Amino acid sequence: MTKPQVLPEPFRIKMVEPLALPSRDTRETALRASHYNMFQLKSRDVYLDLLTDSGTGAMSKAQWAALMNGDESYAGADSFYTLKKTLQELLGFDHFLPMHQGRAAEHVVFSSLAREGDLIPMNMPFDTTRAHIFQARAQPLSCVVEEAYQPEVDAPFKGNVDLSKLEAALAQHPHSRRIPLVMVTVTNNSGGGQPVSLENLRACARLTRARGIPLFLDAARMAENAYFIQQREASCRNLTCAQILRRMMDCADAITVSCKKDPLVNIGGLVAMRTEALYYQLAPRTILHEGYLSYGGLAGRDLEALARGLREMVDEEYLAHRVSQVRYLGDLLTEAGVPILRPVGGHAVFIDAGAFLPHIPQRCYPADVLSVELYREGAIRGVGLGALAFEDTDPVTGRKKLPRLELFRLAIPRRAYTNHHMAYVAKCVAAVHQRRASIRHGLKLVQDSPVPGLSHFVARPEPTPL
Ligand code: F0G
Repeated sequence: MTKPQVLPEPFRIKMVEPLALPSRDTRETALRASHYNMFQLKSRDVYLDLLTDSGTGAMSKAQWAALMNGDESYAGADSFYTLKKTLQELLGFDHFLPMHQGRAAEHVVFSSLAREGDLIPMNMPFDTTRAHIFQARAQPLSCVVEEAYQPEVDAPFKGNVDLSKLEAALAQHPHSRRIPLVMVTVTNNSGGGQPVSLENLRACARLTRARGIPLFLDAARMAENAYFIQQREASCRNLTCAQILRRMMDCADAITVSCKKDPLVNIGGLVAMRTEALYYQLAPRTILHEGYLSYGGLAGRDLEALARGLREMVDEEYLAHRVSQVRYLGDLLTEAGVPILRPVGGHAVFIDAGAFLPHIPQRCYPADVLSVELYREGAIRGVGLGALAFEDTDPVTGRKKLPRLELFRLAIPRRAYTNHHMAYVAKCVAAVHQRRASIRHGLKLVQDSPVPGLSHFVARPEPTPL
């Protein structure tokens, strides 16, 4: 077997945040106190926190310095114009609305554009995206390629939209179902952080433009997607990630962004668009729910750090290290015989929890059982992305529908952990894997979320014997 390729960090550490491994007793107490829900754990009881790559990265010295330039004026702040210029230069969008984070962008977009009964074709929606579509009484429709549902299949662009599925969906508009927009998530978080090819984005743009339907990108992880395109799409091999990113954006009419991911800030989001008409469609709800149009729920200093982070996210060395660190963890797990979703994604390693714990029925939430067991093993926090997060209610029959994937995600914060931390994670996962047959409990919900689509955040599961 070839040794996993690992790149040295292209940064050095200037400030440290001490971490401590809580004792086994502390972990057991914390598990009970959190009702076996990782979102309810206190971060001080976690050693390595891989719950999410969202807002958990380390800012650069240039970003910290940029904070001091924050213009805190209510309207028309310099910081707004700094960010506007960055978005024009880097992504090519002339208009944008700042938001406090990605789900605020989803709220503004879906509550302004979608109506009851509408259909929103996507590759795959992530949790809050899906919940906001439900809130608008619309329905998401996954149109991702079939291999996205086959964790063991290695394919370069498992985030791609299946164009025949998209075409079939679009044919319903405007006759039986209205389709106010199509959204493609880059990379596809729910399906393993898998990229979408430039060719596929261009094809989606052709199909949507032909019908006059706007194409939105959920661009939270747009830079990682651009890096994968550079590595895997022959026609883009000689382009920089920034050039590829611009070509991706050229396909879109608008983008929603959680800036807590690739854009390297701890808080922030935005919607960017080509036309003033769309800007003014989204402006009223931005003012009502976020803030005035030039700050949208953020401080001027946040806008400065974001403008800087957007430029840093396309640094080739940063991206090469970022993706190689995640792949390193994936390679170590593969060496240990752990079933992971292949190929390794951009921001996280996704373990195939159904294959890891085949004796636990999906109704008993194997992905979340694995969360509990890994925390128990090494005080590592990941997140279950299976039945608890994505169970659906069939709109016609009202019956519960289990999702096709049962994944456990180890998301890697940006520039925060070292490769030694990855080795520790792999060792702990391998230890749980070795004792997997002795895990004889599932989980059952003793309390669920009253709002559809939010179970994994707030539910109280409890161990139940198999
Ligand atoms: N879109 C995608 C693809 C996401 O992954 C997320 C968040 C959002 C939108 C919402 O953004 O958190 O800023 O409100 N994903 C996080 C995660 C939380 O853990 O993957 P937000």
